Amino acid sequence: MESINIGIAGLGTVGAEVVKQLQINANYLNKKAGAKLNLAAISARNKSNDRGFDASNLIWIEGAENLAVQKEVDLVVELIGGADGTALNLCKSALKKGKSIVTANKAMMSKHGYDLALLAEENQCSIGFEASVAGCIPIIKSLRDGLSATKINSISGILNGTCNYILTEMRETGRSFDDVLKEAQSKGYAEADPTFDVDGIDAAQKLTLLTAIAFGISPNDKNLNISGIRDVDVIDILFAEELGYRIKLLAASKFDGDGLVQEVSPCMISLDKQISKVEGVLNAVELNTQLAGSVMLTGFGAGAEPTATAVLSDIITVAQGKAPNSFGCSARDLIANIKEGKQDKHRFYIRFNVIDKSGVLANITEIFRKYGLSIESLLQRGRNPNEEVPVVITTHETGNVTLMSVMNELNASKELLNKPVCMKII
Ligand SMILES: NC(=O)c1ccc[n+]([C@@H]2O[C@H](COP(=O)([O-])OP(=O)(O)OC[C@H]3O[C@@H](n4cnc5c(N)ncnc54)[C@H](OP(=O)(O)O)[C@@H]3O)[C@@H](O)[C@H]2O)c1
Repeated sequence: MESINIGIAGLGTVGAEVVKQLQINANYLNKKAGAKLNLAAISARNKSNDRGFDASNLIWIEGAENLAVQKEVDLVVELIGGADGTALNLCKSALKKGKSIVTANKAMMSKHGYDLALLAEENQCSIGFEASVAGCIPIIKSLRDGLSATKINSISGILNGTCNYILTEMRETGRSFDDVLKEAQSKGYAEADPTFDVDGIDAAQKLTLLTAIAFGISPNDKNLNISGIRDVDVIDILFAEELGYRIKLLAASKFDGDGLVQEVSPCMISLDKQISKVEGVLNAVELNTQLAGSVMLTGFGAGAEPTATAVLSDIITVAQGKAPNSFGCSARDLIANIKEGKQDKHRFYIRFNVIDKSGVLANITEIFRKYGLSIESLLQRGRNPNEEVPVVITTHETGNVTLMSVMNELNASKELLNKPVCMKII
C-alpha cells in the first residue's frame, strides 16, 4: 500500500479532531483511501497546549508556514482560519511546491479562491475545501461531481448553524434575540464576537463558494446583498407562525446566464417547503437543477466531528490520486466579471408599529396604493386606542423598485413609530 504524508496546521476544534480520527480510525480510513494516511507533522501556535490526542510520536513544526517546505509532507491540511496571514501564506507556498491542500477556511477561499485555484492548476495539484461550506454536507462534491452534468438554476441554503439555532430557540421559547444569543455563546454555539455569524457574513462567504462552483463564476461578493438576523424580533417569528411561515436566514443565488443575483437575508419561508423545517444548528442546501429537479441536502454545518468528516473525505480524495478542479472547471474558464442580475418578483412581509387611532392605517395603505403595490393581507394585533400596536402587511408579488419606493416612503412616514421590518416571502 502506498502512503501519503500529511501535515496539519491548526489543532483547534477541527484540527485536533482530524488528528484524533487519523489515529483512532487509521485502518478504516486507509482502506477507503487505498493508501496509508501517514500523519507526518503537525503545527499550531502553542506546542504545549493539551489537545486531547497523543502527540508524543508526532513531529512538531515550529511556525505553521514551514509545514509546506517539509520534504516529509506531501499534503498540507490548513485548519488555522482567517482570510489572509499564516493560512494563506501556508497554502500558497504548498501549492507552489505542487503539494495539494485541504482546508476548511471559507474566509480564505471566498477571498483568494480564484488565485489559489490558478496556482493549483499551474502546479498540478488540488484544493479540497468541502469543510468550508455547510460542515459535513457534501455539497461541494455534489456540485463538482454528482450534479456536474446538469445546469444549476438556483441555490438556496441555510448555511449558518448559529443563526438557525438562534431563530429556532426564539420561536420555541418566545425569548428575545439578545437573550438567546447570550445562551448560545455560553453553550459554545456562538463566538464571543458573533458579528460574522449573526450579520450574515459567514453565510455570504459560503454562498460565494457555492455560487462559483454552481455557475462557473470566479468567487466574489460584488453585488452580494447581506442582511443578518439582529433585527428579527420575536414578534416577527410569532406572526410568521400565525401566517404559516418560518423565518430562516437564507443564502440564495441565481444565474440566468447573464446576470447574477446573490443575497443573504432573513426570509419568511412557507411551511410547505422542506427547508422551512430545518431547525437548530442544522444546515441545508437546496439546488434547483435543469435536468434533475430539486435536490436538497441537510446535516450538521459545524462542530468537530461533522467538520472533520468533510476534511478527512478531502484527504481521502487526494490520497486516491484524484485532483478535481477547485471550482468544477478550469480556473481559467471561470467568468471573472459578472453583472448584477435582475431580482425575481416576490411577495413581502412588512411589520411596523403605529398609534391605534382612526385614519392611521388609511394613510399607510395610501402609500401602497400610490406605488401600485397591492396588499394581500393586513393584520393589526389587538385593540389599544391611542396606544402603540403592531401592524403586519403582506403584499402580492412585486419587484424591487416598487418595494423600495414604498419602503422609503414608509421610513419617512410620521405614522410609523419604528423602522419597518421587511422580509421576502418564499
Ligand atoms: N469549528 C467549526 O465547527 C468549523 C466548521 C467549519 C469550518 N471551520 C473552519 O475551520 C478552521 C479552523 O476552525 P477551528 O474552529 O478549528 O478554529 P480554532 O479552534 O480556533 O483553532 C485554530 C487553530 O489554529 C491555530 N492557529 C491560530 N493562529 C495560528 C498561527 N498564526 N499559526 C499557527 N497556528 C495558528 C491555533 O493554535 P493554538 O491551538 O496553539 O492556539 C488553533 O490550534 C477555520 O477556517 C474555520 O472557519 C470550523
